[in-house]
Amino acid sequence: MRTKLVNSAAARSSESHAILVPVGAKINLPSDAPKANTWKSDFSDKNGSSITLRGAAGKRWVLVRLPKAKDVTAEDVRGAAGVARKVCEGLEKPTLSIDLSCLKNAAAFVQAAIEGSMMAGHDMALMRSDKPKYLVKSIQVAGAGSSKAASQALKHGTHGAIANLATRDLQNAPANILTPKEFAKRARKVCSSSPKLSCKVLGEKKMAEMGMGSLLGVSQGSVNEAQLVHMVYKPKGKSKGKLALVGKGLTFDTGGISIKPSGNMQDMKFDMSGAAAVLGTFVALGKGAECQYEVHGILGCVENMPGANAQRPGDIVTAMNKMTIEVHNTDAEGRLVLADCLTYTARKVKPMRIYDMATLTGAAIHALGHLHSAVIGTDQKAIDQVRDLSAELGEPCWQLPINEAYRDLTRGSYADLQNLYAPGQGAGTIAGACFLSFFVDDVPWVHLDIAATAWEGPPRSYMSKGGRGIIARTMLAVLRK
Ligand code: BES
Ligand code: MN
Ligand code: ZN
Repeated sequence: MRTKLVNSAAARSSESHAILVPVGAKINLPSDAPKANTWKSDFSDKNGSSITLRGAAGKRWVLVRLPKAKDVTAEDVRGAAGVARKVCEGLEKPTLSIDLSCLKNAAAFVQAAIEGSMMAGHDMALMRSDKPKYLVKSIQVAGAGSSKAASQALKHGTHGAIANLATRDLQNAPANILTPKEFAKRARKVCSSSPKLSCKVLGEKKMAEMGMGSLLGVSQGSVNEAQLVHMVYKPKGKSKGKLALVGKGLTFDTGGISIKPSGNMQDMKFDMSGAAAVLGTFVALGKGAECQYEVHGILGCVENMPGANAQRPGDIVTAMNKMTIEVHNTDAEGRLVLADCLTYTARKVKPMRIYDMATLTGAAIHALGHLHSAVIGTDQKAIDQVRDLSAELGEPCWQLPINEAYRDLTRGSYADLQNLYAPGQGAGTIAGACFLSFFVDDVPWVHLDIAATAWEGPPRSYMSKGGRGIIARTMLAVLRK
């Protein structure tokens, strides 16, 4: 997708011209557009509603409604830009312009306009022969000037959308195709696309040598070999330090011997959404997203299957940090996989901060519903930053507590830890985070539980069915700071 800033005159002569119109705002339509008295009553005040005006020679103007100018948020613009994209796809023209000139501080909304219009072009029906073709090949933002801030916002929006779309493609891919090995292959391919990226992959033999008994215990029921993917981004010029992004990459989670009910089990292909978000972020880094940190992306790609060799409830495994873990429930596998990924990261990478992202607990749905991801960790400044940036990007995170009293609940009786604490205690999302906290050593740490937000959820014009690409845009925003 090509994106650029243009002036309103250029936009007016473009093929499909969408104007975002706050309630009460004056619209500056060219003289060959239909007069307001012919359509005014059809253009509703409802946020996100739209109307298409027809001119001579196939000229079309699409008006999309926003709230009153003083109330407009980035999310409103993202949503309206998504509507504009959807309507303009129907007009079958390759260039879409989005006109922000009716907005007061238009430059501040460029990023959201690009995000919404690009993200709305995602098709979840990846393997359907009748899948719709997206015809828009180029998006231009008009009426926002050409300041440095506006052109940077354009880049940020473009890279954010690239990361989001790449994440969604991975999420939607089925587990028979996107196996751990295939995941690793795709990561290698992404990293070979840019001299700033590199990638190494550890197979099960190497992981066994490193003592990753916790991760390997989850994998042993599957014929698909686990892969630990380690990607590195090195910025041009001086690095501001090392950050690590760690993703849960369960390419499928049946629950293992503690098998899940069959209803909707097909959706458990999205249990790799954390790893997908990390790889999606690296896709954008490979395409020049702004970042002055050295970034390490660690993906724990594993399949959780029942099988003759599967681990049993009650088994005790030894993690890379030498802690023993009693496996109470083989369906609490994400924390077992992440445990070794986190130790690997803390000890081999030694970053100044770790962000992990994982579809870790169904309890996140009970705690926060499908609107907010849960954020828990030991670095309050970084948590505050994630909360603020994610809210601005329309993928908000909300903090839950962690402390010694909660951490104590996850200590085991037959082993140092157990992967589940007593049922009925509640706080499942906190319990998952507590377990992980034993594996980060002293590295400042931010854990993002995206179980409730990674897949489907509240309707958005720029989201389709399936994966939502959650948290990749937030991570890119963190990496820009
Ligand atoms: N991948 C699931 C969590 C999940 C559930 C994600 C629903 C998205 C939607 C995770 O591996 C899991 O099964 N967690 C269990 C933990 C429990 C056994 C302590 C859960 O949440 O039920
Ligand atoms: Mn599970
Ligand atoms: Zn899982």
